Amino acid sequence: MFVMLRFVFLLVITILYVTPAIAFTGHSLPENGNDSIVFSPGKVWKDEKDNVINAHGGGVLYNKSTYYWYGEVRGETESKGVNVYSSKDLYHWKFEGLGLQTSSDPKSDIVSGCIIERPKVIYNQKTNKYVMWFHLEMKGQGYNAARAAVAISDKPTGPFTLVKSFRPNGHMSRDMGLFVDSDQAAYHIYSAQDNYDLRISKLTDDYLSPTVQDTLLFSKHREAPALFKKDDQYYLITSGCTGWEPNRSSVHVSKSLFGPWEMAGDPMVGPKSELTFGGQSTYILPVQGKKDAFIFMADVWKPKDLKDSRYIWLPIEFKNDKPIIEWKDQWDLSVFDK
Ligand code: GAL
Repeated sequence: MFVMLRFVFLLVITILYVTPAIAFTGHSLPENGNDSIVFSPGKVWKDEKDNVINAHGGGVLYNKSTYYWYGEVRGETESKGVNVYSSKDLYHWKFEGLGLQTSSDPKSDIVSGCIIERPKVIYNQKTNKYVMWFHLEMKGQGYNAARAAVAISDKPTGPFTLVKSFRPNGHMSRDMGLFVDSDQAAYHIYSAQDNYDLRISKLTDDYLSPTVQDTLLFSKHREAPALFKKDDQYYLITSGCTGWEPNRSSVHVSKSLFGPWEMAGDPMVGPKSELTFGGQSTYILPVQGKKDAFIFMADVWKPKDLKDSRYIWLPIEFKNDKPIIEWKDQWDLSVFDK
């Protein structure tokens, strides 16, 4: 009888304490749950309130000990704007709200019905402003407007107010990225001439406009630019142009942002590497406090249900200075400690 009671007691203890512990540590979950301390590329990623993270084609800003993740809000219908999430550790994300909202004013360039894609935010030390650039398509014009747009805020979480939209130096501008160099000069990298050309323009000191220092990087029909710098070398990862369908990535390397850029092949390694694991590049995230630690960020687009598009984050390794991005089902930041 005593043995039986002890067994029942132990069973109850196990059910009450051990099972939830396994379920909530995150390690046992196949997905990036709100309590996860691993990255699970391609799975459903949730914020700390257990809601699915909705921040596509995004980028990350590190500011005052916090990471801010900005991305396209995707829903049942049209673009609603740009969502902002914040995190101290890159695993746990707090939803900060809609940082940029489409407008109800029919005269606004971002009147609802427009398309807002690939938002990126940088912080300007001189003006103390947060500056967002994004790809804007005007209401009712499909993808023909091909504009860049700039919005500004006093806080990293917004609200961001639209400053203007335009074609940089007269060039079409669709997929884009921003890059701030070690000297705080900022650059806009964008797909121009119906995506055949990839261009870079240096921004004005306030980061609100392109300067006329605007150069063709290469004309190879590439998009989804993601640029980063390690030591004195710049790396530019791009995708091909197949709409929402995945294709092969490539990386170009240069000693100068204005080129010449040398093709260094496809950095992806592993299953479906020739299709970027089903994803498309969006940003390279430098991990703070770790040397040469960069995370490759990509989107797995689901055109029939864009809000269910998934995130691929993978660590970048270097072999003889060439970046290698190898598929991992799960990983954590300790990979950078080796
Ligand atoms: C992709 C582009 C996405 C989106 C899509 C629309 O090529 O990278 O950001 O614009 O086309 O079809």
